[in-house]
Amino acid sequence: MSKQLQDKVAIVTGASSGLGKAIAETFAAEGAKVVLAARRKEVLAEITAAINSKGGVALEVAADVTKETDVANLFAEAKRAFGRVDIVVNNAGVASATPVDEISLQYWNEVLAVNLTGPFLMSREAVKVMKAQSPQGGRIINIGSVSQKTPRPDSMAYTATKHALQGMTHQLTMDGRKYGVVASIIHPGATLSSFTARRGRTAPGPGETPADYVMAAEDVARVAVLMCGLPAEVNLYEATILPNNMRSFIGRG
Ligand SMILES: NC(=O)c1ccc[n+]([C@@H]2O[C@H](COP(=O)([O-])OP(=O)(O)OC[C@H]3O[C@@H](n4cnc5c(N)ncnc54)[C@H](OP(=O)(O)O)[C@@H]3O)[C@@H](O)[C@H]2O)c1
Repeated sequence: MSKQLQDKVAIVTGASSGLGKAIAETFAAEGAKVVLAARRKEVLAEITAAINSKGGVALEVAADVTKETDVANLFAEAKRAFGRVDIVVNNAGVASATPVDEISLQYWNEVLAVNLTGPFLMSREAVKVMKAQSPQGGRIINIGSVSQKTPRPDSMAYTATKHALQGMTHQLTMDGRKYGVVASIIHPGATLSSFTARRGRTAPGPGETPADYVMAAEDVARVAVLMCGLPAEVNLYEATILPNNMRSFIGRG
C-alpha cells in the first residue's frame, strides 16, 4: 500500500525542534520528500541525517523566515532538489509572555516578525511557486494555537499573531482557489516542545493533575498528515487538537 504522502514535496519551517521536527519526521515516514528549514543548520543536519538513514528523503536549508532572501532561497533549494513544492507548513514561531504594559515596541515587532511576517513571506512564495508549477497547486498548513481561541495571561503579542494567522488562512483559502492552492490551520494545545521544556516538562503524557497532560508533537503531526493526504479538492480547513482535560481552554466543570 502506498504511503499517505508518497513523493509529495514538503517544506516545514521551524523543523529543528518540537512540532516542526515531528511534522518533518512524520511526513518523511509517510513518503514525502521533506525540506527542513530553521536557523540552526547543524541541528537540522542531524535530523535530516536520521531521516535519510531510515530510508526517508530529507534536505536541510538554513533559513530565517523573517528574511525575504532566505525565504526565496529556501524555495529555490526545494525546487532545485525536488522539482516542485506540494506542501508548506508554516510552523516556526516564538512564544511570548510579558505583561501588556511592559511590552516594548521592539519585542512586539520581533514576535510579529517570526509568527506573522514569516508565514506571510512563506505563503507569498508558496503561491508564486504553486501557481507556476505543473500540475498546479498545493497546500499551505499554518500552525496556529488554542491561544487564537482562549489566550494565556500576558501574551498579547503571541495571541495577536495567532488571530492574524486565522485571517491569513481564510484569505489564502479564497485567493488560492484559482490556482489550486488549499490553506488550512491547526490550533494545538499544550504539546511537548521547547515551549513546554521551559515550563519544566520534558516528556509527553500525564502530569501532576489531569489538566497537566502534554501531547506528543507526533499527535499534532498526524493531523497535518491527514490534512495533506486528502484529495486536492477537499480541505480540512481548521483543526483544534488539545489534551482532553485542558480545562483552561474548554472552561468550567
Ligand atoms: N508547544 C505548544 O504547546 C504549542 C501550542 C500551540 C501552538 N504552538 C505553535 O507551534 C509552533 C512550533 O512551536 P514549538 O512548540 O514546536 O516550539 P519550539 O520547540 O521552540 O520550536 C520553534 C521552532 O521555530 C524555529 N524558529 C524560531 N524563529 C525562527 C526564525 N526566525 N526563522 C526560522 N525558524 C525559526 C526554531 O528553530 P531555530 O531556532 O533553529 O531557528 C524552532 O525550530 C509555533 O508556531 C507555536 O506557536 C505550540
